[in-house]
Amino acid sequence: MTAFHQKPLRQQLQALRHCHPVPKSAFSDGVEALKGKQIVILGCGAQGLNQGLNLRDSGLNVAYALRQSSIDSQNSSYQRAKDNGFYVGSFEELVPKADLVINLTPDKQHGPVVNAIMPTMKAGAALGYSHGFDVIEAQREIRDDITVIMVAPKCPGTEVRAEYLRGFGVPTLIAVHQDPEGKGLAWAKAWCAGTGGHRAGVLESSFEAEVKSDLMGEQTVLCGLPQAVCVAGFERLVALQVPAEQAAAFYQFGIEQVSESMKAGGVRLAFSKLSPAARVHARRQADKIKAAFRPLFEKHMDDIVAGRFAERMMTDWQNDDVELLTWRQQSSESAFEQAPPSQSFTLDFDRATGLVAIFAAGVELAFEVMVEAGVSPASAYYESLHELPLIANTLARRRLHEMNLVISDTAEYGNYLFAGPATDILKDILATWTLRELGEGGQFDAVDDTSLSLVDEQNQSHPIEAVGASLRAYMRER
Ligand SMILES: NC(=O)c1ccc[n+]([C@@H]2O[C@H](COP(=O)([O-])OP(=O)(O)OC[C@H]3O[C@@H](n4cnc5c(N)ncnc54)[C@H](OP(=O)(O)O)[C@@H]3O)[C@@H](O)[C@H]2O)c1
Repeated sequence: MTAFHQKPLRQQLQALRHCHPVPKSAFSDGVEALKGKQIVILGCGAQGLNQGLNLRDSGLNVAYALRQSSIDSQNSSYQRAKDNGFYVGSFEELVPKADLVINLTPDKQHGPVVNAIMPTMKAGAALGYSHGFDVIEAQREIRDDITVIMVAPKCPGTEVRAEYLRGFGVPTLIAVHQDPEGKGLAWAKAWCAGTGGHRAGVLESSFEAEVKSDLMGEQTVLCGLPQAVCVAGFERLVALQVPAEQAAAFYQFGIEQVSESMKAGGVRLAFSKLSPAARVHARRQADKIKAAFRPLFEKHMDDIVAGRFAERMMTDWQNDDVELLTWRQQSSESAFEQAPPSQSFTLDFDRATGLVAIFAAGVELAFEVMVEAGVSPASAYYESLHELPLIANTLARRRLHEMNLVISDTAEYGNYLFAGPATDILKDILATWTLRELGEGGQFDAVDDTSLSLVDEQNQSHPIEAVGASLRAYMRER
C-alpha cells in the first residue's frame, strides 16, 4: 500500500475526503459480528479500560494483555483491569488466542508493541486501533492476512464510559485499512456498537483522514487553545488586580460552559446568549482573533498533512521525550496551574464576551482550515466544535494537569507545539482588552439594528452552522 506522503495530491485529497455518516439502521445487528469472538485489549489506560468495560457490558468477551513487568509488579494498569474483574495475561499468552486484538497502548509504543505481536497473531485475526498514527505516520507494515480496522471515539476514554452509562455514546469514526477477508467493516461496526458510539453518530472514514483531522483538532482548538487561554487570560486578569482564585475559576469553568453551549446549538447559540451590544463586539473581536491566528492554524495543518509534525514528534520520542517532558514541567508550574483551588461557578453570559469571541474564532478557524485542506466538513465539525466541551470538562475537573493527563501522548505533544506561539499571540490581543471583555462586567456601547442584523447573519451563515445542525439532528435520531 502506498504511504500517504508518497501519494499524488489527488489521491491524498481523495483519502482525506473519505468520510460519510453511517445511518443508524446500519447498526441493526449491534455487536453480533463479534459475539463469541475473543477480544484482547492491549493496555488498560484511558481508552483501554473504558472501551473494555463498555464492550463487556455489551455482551462481548474481553481480556487484557499487559506487559509481563506490569503483571509482575501488579502496577496500576494491572490493578484497574483486575479490580474490574477482567482476565489479565501476558502478550505471549493472550495474543495467539485473540480473534480481535485492540491496540490501546500509547501511540509512541505502537512500533514495539505491534512488531512484537505480529508473529504470534492467529491467522486471519484482526488488529484494531483507536487512532491511525502508527499505520499512516509510522507506516507500520502489517501481515497481509490480518484485517486492520479502527474505531476512534472522538473524546477521552472517561467520556466513552460516562456516555455509555447514560445510555448513549460518543461520536466515533470507523475505518478499514486492510481487509483480506471482507469482514473489516462488519467488525468495526460491531466494535463501535459495543462502545455505544452507534447511538451518538458514526462517520465511516479512512485511516488517513482520521489521523490528519484528529491531529489538527487536538493540537489547535481542542487542547492548544484552551491551554493558551488559561495561561494568558489568567495572567492578564491578575495583572488587572482580579484575585487569583477568581481569575482561575473564570477560565477553568468558563471554557466548559461556553463550549457546552456551542455543542448544543452551534457557535451562533453562544453568540446569541450575549446581549446585542456584546454580541456585535464579540463578533468583531472574533474576526480580529481569526486574522491573528490564521497563519498558525495553517502552519499546523500544513505540517500535519506533509508529515512534518509526525517526524518532529517521533524525533522527540527517540530523544527520550526531552521536549515534551520539559514543557510538561513548565506547564505544571504556570501561575494558572498554581493558583489556589477554585470553586465551581456558573458563567453569566454577559460576562463571557471575550471567551465567546476566542472560542468562536478557534472553532471556526479550525473548521475552515481543515476543510480547505480537504477534510470533510462532518469530520471537521466533530474534530473542532463537538469535541471541545468533552476536553473542556477535563479542564474543569483539575485544570491543565487533568487535560494533559487524559488526552493521548500525541495530543499532548501537539498541544506543546501550538500553545507556545498561541500564548504569545493571545497575550498581545488581551493586552488591548479591558475588564469588560475579560469577564469582569461592564456595558458595551449601544449598537444599531443594522449592525446587529449583519452580525447575526454572519454568525448564522458560517458553514459550520449548517453541518452542525444536520449532524446534531442525526445524533438525536433514535
Ligand atoms: N486518550 C484519548 O483521549 C484518546 C482518544 C481517542 C483515541 N485515543 C487513542 O487510543 C490509544 C490509547 O491511548 P490512551 O491515551 O488511552 O493511552 P494510555 O492511557 O497512555 O495507555 C496506557 C496503557 O498502555 C500500556 N502500555 C504503555 N506502554 C506499553 C508497552 N510498551 N507495551 C505494552 N503496553 C504498554 C500501559 O501499561 P503499563 O501500565 O504497563 O505501562 C497502560 O495500560 C492511542 O492510540 C490514542 O491515540 C486516545
